[in-house]
Amino acid sequence: MSAFEELVRARRDVRHFLTDGLDEEEVDRLLALAHSAPSVGLSQPWRFVRIASAALRERLAAHVDDQVARAGEIYKGEEDRLYRSLKLHGLREAPVLFAVYCDEGTETGHRLGAITMPEARRYSCVMAIHTIWLAARTQGIGMGWVSILDPATVDTMLGVPENWRCLGLLCLGYPTSEEAAPELERRGWEHRIDWRSTVVSR
Ligand SMILES: Cc1cc2nc3c(=O)[nH]c(=O)nc-3n(C[C@H](O)[C@H](O)[C@H](O)COP(=O)(O)O)c2cc1C
Repeated sequence: MSAFEELVRARRDVRHFLTDGLDEEEVDRLLALAHSAPSVGLSQPWRFVRIASAALRERLAAHVDDQVARAGEIYKGEEDRLYRSLKLHGLREAPVLFAVYCDEGTETGHRLGAITMPEARRYSCVMAIHTIWLAARTQGIGMGWVSILDPATVDTMLGVPENWRCLGLLCLGYPTSEEAAPELERRGWEHRIDWRSTVVSR
């Protein structure tokens, strides 16, 4: 297996973190690598908001707990019991926390490609997020993407500009364990489907 294949296969969404801090130079290196991601029109619309205050971190964690509980109201019986037992974020433990935004009003790139398909800016941000995810993993750092939130509530908490779109919260830190399979698979929530079933021909 090539080193790249190994990296892609070993990347995990992490929710269980050691509280050991990350080296700030390492965090900067990860952000710089994320910034080398492709972007429509070279618009580089990703914005990483560092959550530095303990009070804000707790407000975000409490908000996500609330949203996780609300989102779970659709489940019944055994599925409900399993859902309630899942850990769906590590916002309280991860030493480094970012909110990721897409600047949908950016003039960088002179709107090339964003007139016909404005959502391409969001896709560009997702490329940056995936880059940081893989880059972190090469250093033994884990990342968790938290999206079970109400974007408008988070925007208000963070006081971001009006045309920034929240794409989620990123938790970064050393994982408590190395896992070969997704946590949701190990917990019996879902399994990886055969990739062949996702390919359609006409
Ligand atoms: C856009 C996006 C949003 C996600 N949001 C959450 C989330 O809110 N909570 C969570 O526990 N995992 C979240 N995940 C992680 C997925 O559950 C995870 O990627 C999937 O189960 C596969 O596991 P793996 O990343 O370890 O391969 C998110 C992943 C993506 C790509």
